[in-house]
Amino acid sequence: MSAIIMSGKTLADEMTIQMQEDVNKLKEQGLTPGLVVLLVGEDPASQTYVRNKEKRAKALGFHSLIKRYPSTITEEELLNEVQRYNEDASFHGILVQLPLPKQIDSDKIVNAIDSMKDVDGFHPINMGKLLIGQPDKIPCTPYGIIKMLDRYQVEIEGKRAVVIGRSNIVGKPMAQLLMMRNATVTIAHSRTKDLPELARTADILVVAMGKGHFVTKDFIKPGAAVIDVGMNRDKNGKLIGDVKSDEVAEVAGYLTPVPKGVGPMTITMLLYQTIESAKKFAA
Ligand code: GUN
Repeated sequence: MSAIIMSGKTLADEMTIQMQEDVNKLKEQGLTPGLVVLLVGEDPASQTYVRNKEKRAKALGFHSLIKRYPSTITEEELLNEVQRYNEDASFHGILVQLPLPKQIDSDKIVNAIDSMKDVDGFHPINMGKLLIGQPDKIPCTPYGIIKMLDRYQVEIEGKRAVVIGRSNIVGKPMAQLLMMRNATVTIAHSRTKDLPELARTADILVVAMGKGHFVTKDFIKPGAAVIDVGMNRDKNGKLIGDVKSDEVAEVAGYLTPVPKGVGPMTITMLLYQTIESAKKFAA
């Protein structure tokens, strides 16, 4: 058996067509969705992410701005910048690219973003709403993964899901979203014992651990849907996932590739939530 490859790129392209119609309609009403990305320092990975976000935002006709700051910026200065964009009505989404330099407390910065403009879904108000089952802004990577499971008609209700990774950005919200869809969810992490054995109980396995090619076929229940959130570089600089895709594809029922899997969906959900935010500001 060979797994069905779940293309995030294809779904992103499909969703973008609908989103383009939404943007056109809003523009006819005199409203252009606006997204500002605050980028501190020169981290090459962040530069690439941010460029991709801007390219796609511009292609949709957004009002899009990348504000760059030197890595020496103080916390107070950055807080002032966040405040400035909270008050700027031409932007409906604010994203502060993470990680931030050491002298800056990221939590303080994220907390300062107007939760209505928090299109990343990282603000404690949005996290809290998600946890009590009243989601508003949702972290984009897990949100995109749910869209992919639905697009490929992978049943969630009643299934066993294992999420490897417990970050605030991916693991925790992913588990919550799966639970809201009536999956039975286990969160595993670096201290979990007998990880392959646990992973083999999963009908849906989400891997967000940040270790290249860590998950082998021994982790996979035959027919399982395997979602690879990993973005690692191998020794030749090639982008690889957390899942050893060649061998896992022989056992899994569904598998997301790296690249063109989860990545394109993360950006799509960011733009989607910016459009939804613009609609709310207009209402
Ligand atoms: N750094 C890596 N991924 C992300 C993301 O999705 N949002 C933000 N703000 N920073 C990131």
